[in-house]
Amino acid sequence: MSDLVITKHVNEKNCETIDFYIQKDHGYEALKKALTMTPAAVVDEVKKSNLRGRGGAGFPTGMKWSFMPPNPVDAKGNPKPKYLVCNADEGEPGTFKDRLIMTKTPHKMIEGMIIAGHAIGSNKGFIYIRGEFYQETRIVQKAIDEAYKKGFLGKNILGSNFTFDLVVYKGAGAYICGEETALLNSLEGKRGEPRLKPPFPAQVGAYGMPSCVNNVETFAAVPYIIHEGAEKFAKMGTERSGGTRLFCVSGHVNKPGVYELPMLLSMRELIEVAGGMKNGKKLKAVIPGGASAPMLTAEEIDVKMDFDSLAKAGTMAGSGGVIVMDESVCIVEAASVLLKFYEHESCGQCSQCREGSHWLARMFHRIENGKGVQSDLDYIAKICGNMAGQTICAFADAVTGPALSSVKKFRKEFEDHITQGCCPHKGPGHRHAHDHKESAHV
Ligand SMILES: Cc1cc2nc3c(=O)[nH]c(=O)nc-3n(C[C@H](O)[C@H](O)[C@H](O)COP(=O)(O)O)c2cc1C
Repeated sequence: MSDLVITKHVNEKNCETIDFYIQKDHGYEALKKALTMTPAAVVDEVKKSNLRGRGGAGFPTGMKWSFMPPNPVDAKGNPKPKYLVCNADEGEPGTFKDRLIMTKTPHKMIEGMIIAGHAIGSNKGFIYIRGEFYQETRIVQKAIDEAYKKGFLGKNILGSNFTFDLVVYKGAGAYICGEETALLNSLEGKRGEPRLKPPFPAQVGAYGMPSCVNNVETFAAVPYIIHEGAEKFAKMGTERSGGTRLFCVSGHVNKPGVYELPMLLSMRELIEVAGGMKNGKKLKAVIPGGASAPMLTAEEIDVKMDFDSLAKAGTMAGSGGVIVMDESVCIVEAASVLLKFYEHESCGQCSQCREGSHWLARMFHRIENGKGVQSDLDYIAKICGNMAGQTICAFADAVTGPALSSVKKFRKEFEDHITQGCCPHKGPGHRHAHDHKESAHV
């Protein structure tokens, strides 16, 4: 049986306050311990825990921290500051776990950041919060103020020679600003467009300085690892991925919500934990890791929910957003809604993404409304082939997730829309709710 690393107290009164955190949740004890350890020992402990980033890519956190240069200097030999950045943008459709952490247990994230700052030798951290998150921003800012008052932030933390300051930066609600280099540009006040890599943020990050970007949940797991030991955390997960994970279950289940569970459970078990299918209906498809993750069919849900098992199944664990769709869902419509989102959110910097996401949105929209042609289905694959891996960031790859998987796994449904000249679920004359403009052929 696993411990709850992050959500143990999230349903309790005043759980977001520093007093609650200190009294009931071993608050800031891990920081005290970390400050007695060398930075290298902290990095080692996180490496041993097998913690992998919870923002989407699942990159090993300890390894990322070890990429930070120990003593960076500028051209004149002067020391350069290093920055730590928390990605609290959480824009992936179907993902709503970071906002739970920020509103219910913000100090876990803050303590994780201070420990990370010590580990990588950074004295300044930024929390980049999605623009729409007014309540989250307010609660996180209050928690930062509390941490300063108690001496966990600021100069000479707890009498050590380590200083760490933390500031909140509000984004403006653009999905692309969750991509770490677009986030860094936005943080600097520039247009939120991804940067070419290399150089990676560990070399040239925020304000041109070496920087490390991690997700909210990634930081929130760090106090447990330091306090309880890496081994205990590692044992909760799989061989290559330690700990529990926050799964955001939405759609046609009886009890949608955020569930902290070991990654060893299967998608089928996760749906059961979330109360099973709503109204006893049959499962049709599920998106396992946020909108960008290729869909799974009802026959494919015995897959385990860890990064490697889902990758082997041709999809991804991504950001932990699990969207469950029952038999009443028109897959063409569901994919079309997602592609409309991507069309809107493409930053437009790379032509393959700018044009491709637009073409795909129009084609799906057209098919959905019974105006598609058979050759569209092959053309979708061709457009996706020209997008994935061809652009500055992984946004274009993300677009191809729902586009390709929906056509591949539910091709008959697409063909029925084309041959019947309407949505077979809704019948002739029906126009979908989000259908607000006539779509032309591309
Ligand atoms: C289009 C796009 C959007 C992303 N959005 C987010 C996001 O909202 N939050 C997040 O933590 N990571 C997001 N990522 C992943 C980040 O680029 C980065 O990998 C992550 O913040 C690293 O933290 P981690 O190692 O702790 O996962 C996104 C990536 C892409 C390509």
